[in-house]
Amino acid sequence: MAGNKKTEKTQGAAKTGGGSCIMRWLTRLGLLALLVATCTWLDTIKHRWYVFDPTSLHELAKAAIAASPNDTGGMIQHIVTNLTATYPSTQIRLNTNSKEWVFNNAGGAMGAMYIIHASITEYLIIFGTPLGTEGHTGLHTADDYFNILVGEQWAFAPGALQMERYPAGTVHFLPRGTAKQYKMHEGVFALEYARGTSRARRHATFADNWMIPGWIPLMLPFGLADTLTSTLDIPTFYNTARITGREMFKNLLIGKI
Ligand SMILES: *[C@@H]1O[C@H](CO)[C@@H](O)[C@H](O)[C@H]1NC(C)=O
Ligand SMILES: *[C@@H]1O[C@H](CO)[C@@H](O)[C@H](O)[C@H]1NC(C)=O
Repeated sequence: MAGNKKTEKTQGAAKTGGGSCIMRWLTRLGLLALLVATCTWLDTIKHRWYVFDPTSLHELAKAAIAASPNDTGGMIQHIVTNLTATYPSTQIRLNTNSKEWVFNNAGGAMGAMYIIHASITEYLIIFGTPLGTEGHTGLHTADDYFNILVGEQWAFAPGALQMERYPAGTVHFLPRGTAKQYKMHEGVFALEYARGTSRARRHATFADNWMIPGWIPLMLPFGLADTLTSTLDIPTFYNTARITGREMFKNLLIGKI
């Protein structure tokens, strides 16, 4: 039966000729063009969804250091208080529970993080460890601004014979698509801001825009892989996914993409 139907269908298609086949392909091409156009448009307006900007966050990090020298907890409180005073809760959702820390194992490095904000286009966290750590930064689809609050971070990229040094008050900027080895020789805490970006779009290649689209969710596999393949710390995995998901969802509810 099924075989007969198929034969009839094939003959039918053959009878109506190449016309309908061309129409089908034109429709598919049209839909594909529409999808590409939509994504291209979304990518160009992505900056409108950003609430934070790297320059004021750097100012804030420096002000926090100045306001609470030698007091990491005080710096974090300064940052959260300032952000909640600056941005209305209708514009962006901030997680003010500064006791909500989780381990973060990624790229061979280990520390803990407190997620202040997570949405689809941006995240802002406090990341660090009082012990020091070392690893691979990850090859990310977002621009990353690592504002050092306490301690010093070192980094190098292949080809460099000297290390880069980032003391407290400076920013280690890692553009998307680049990776380094980094080391916090001693304890470091930092305010890390990442944003998916359409920076330099006009000069970007097709691959830049479509293979590395610049969305925060694409950073999550790197952030969680070590937990799944090495530490097997399931409660940490669960809590990281739960907090990130909760924050992204609550931001979506107020229209923060
Ligand atoms: C937040 O911090 C920035 C940078 O230090 C400062 O210019 C601004 O006035 C602060 N805002 C509030 C509401 O405290
Ligand atoms: C911070 O700590 C360093 C080293 O322990 C010390 O030299 C410095 O005086 C401290 N600064 C303040 C403002 O407490």
